[in-house]
This record gives sequence, C-alpha cells and structure tokens, in this order.
Amino acid sequence: MVQLVHVSTAYPRQTDLVLRDVSFHIAKGENVALIGANGAGKTSLLLAVTGILPICRGSIFIDRVELSKHTARAVQRKTGLVFQNPDDQLFMPRIYDDVLFGLRNRGMSQEEAESRMWKTLNRLGIEHLVDRSPSRLSGGEKRLCALAATLVMEPDILLFDEPTVFLDPRARRTTLSLMQTLSHTKVVATHDLDFVHALCSRALILCHGALVADGDPAVLFADSATMAEWGL
Ligand SMILES: Nc1ncnc2c1ncn2[C@@H]1O[C@H](COP(=O)(O)OP(=O)(O)OP(=O)(O)O)[C@@H](O)[C@H]1O
Ligand SMILES: [Mg+2]
Repeated sequence: MVQLVHVSTAYPRQTDLVLRDVSFHIAKGENVALIGANGAGKTSLLLAVTGILPICRGSIFIDRVELSKHTARAVQRKTGLVFQNPDDQLFMPRIYDDVLFGLRNRGMSQEEAESRMWKTLNRLGIEHLVDRSPSRLSGGEKRLCALAATLVMEPDILLFDEPTVFLDPRARRTTLSLMQTLSHTKVVATHDLDFVHALCSRALILCHGALVADGDPAVLFADSATMAEWGL
C-alpha cells in the first residue's frame, strides 16, 4: 500500500538530507508507528509520502502507483495527513467551511459534500462544533475537527503526525479508541510509546533521516540500550 524504495531527500535550498536511503513496505490495513528523536525526519517522511515534500532520489509507490508529477493528483487522493498542529489544517472562518473545502474543491456538489460532512462529524461526535470558528476551539476539539477534515475525503491511508501531543488523558483515550475503530492503513509519527503499544503492531525507527529498525514495537522498545543510541 505504501512503499518507499531508496528514498533520499532534502528541503529546498538545503544541503543536509532529511531522509537517507529509506526503504520499506507497508501492507493494506497495517498500523505502523514512526518513531525517532526530535529532528529524526518523521514529519518529513509523512510530507514525502503525501507528495508535499518532493524527493531527490528513489521512488514512492502508493497502492502500486509511483508518485510523480503526472500521478500526484490521483495518488494524493489516497492519502490523508492529520497535521501535528491543527492550525496548519484549519484556516477557514468556520469548521463547516474547513470540512467542506476539500470536497467542494474536488468538484463535489454542495448537497453530497454536506451529507458526507454530517456523516463524518457524527462519527466523531462533533456536529455541535460545525458553526464554530477554529480559532475559538480547545486543542482537543481542533484535533477532532482536523481529523474530520481529513476523514471526510475518504483516503485509504491515514498519516498522523503526533496525534496525542497536548491532549489530556481523556482526549488521548478517545483518540486512541477512535483510531482503533478506523480500518484504514495508518502511519503514526509519535513519541508516545504507550500509544504505539496500544495501536501499532509494527514500528519503524528513524535516526538522522535513516531507517535504523523495522519490527515489533515490544521487542524494539525492550532493548533500552539500543533505543538510547537512537536518541530515544
Ligand atoms: N521546512 C524546513 N526547511 C528546512 N529544514 C527543515 C524544515 N522542516 C524540517 N527541517 C529539518 O529537517 C530535519 C527533520 O525534521 P522533521 O520535522 O522531519 O523531524 P521530526 O522527526 O518530525 O521531529 P519532531 O519529533 O521534532 O517533530 C530536521 O533537521 C529539521 O530541522
Ligand atoms: Mg515532527
């Protein structure tokens, strides 16, 4: 479903590589954690998979189609990124506009888009926030609205960047059980190792942009000496 083959990249006008020769394959329905110290390249990897950060070398395949200039639009429809900071995702006057924006942009009719919007807001239990301004929501509420804006697009692959950071214990539990009910293929960048244990059967560990481990989180995390070498 998501395959990287010898992917390396740097940000525009930068010389330092943020991803170094990264290769892996994630099958349909897998829940995979992306672990690594601050600056290891987790967010960059998610941006590369969604086609936001262009890659310098290697290939990315989404559902067997290689991500390229020509395929970007079609391939991007298959992935949905929930940003670390919901303020990067919610920018319209009302949640209503934010959740509808992507669908209307795709040319969907107002009626169909609204029906999908209500279904999604319902699922997340946030219909009551529909007319609110994103700037006046709590951190946890914003998170749910950003997730709604992503889910409404019905991507096959969900990419989460630090989904539990700044959440209180209750919101964290709600997020976890919600994510457990989503049958999508999921890649979750996080520092929250308990969350990984509860959700993911596999972890990829990045260190200075390189993939240094790929395996069972319980086994990887138990080796504290090696984890410390990776800055974890
Ligand atoms: N827009 C940018 N332009 C240039 N360099 C960047 C940019 N964004 C990130 N970087 C650099 O790329 C490297 C990887 O950053 P990235 O954000 O992918 O790390 P991360 O693993 O997500 O870290 P964190 O745990 O702090 O979120 C870092 O050295 C960072 O300074
Ligand atoms: Mg990050």
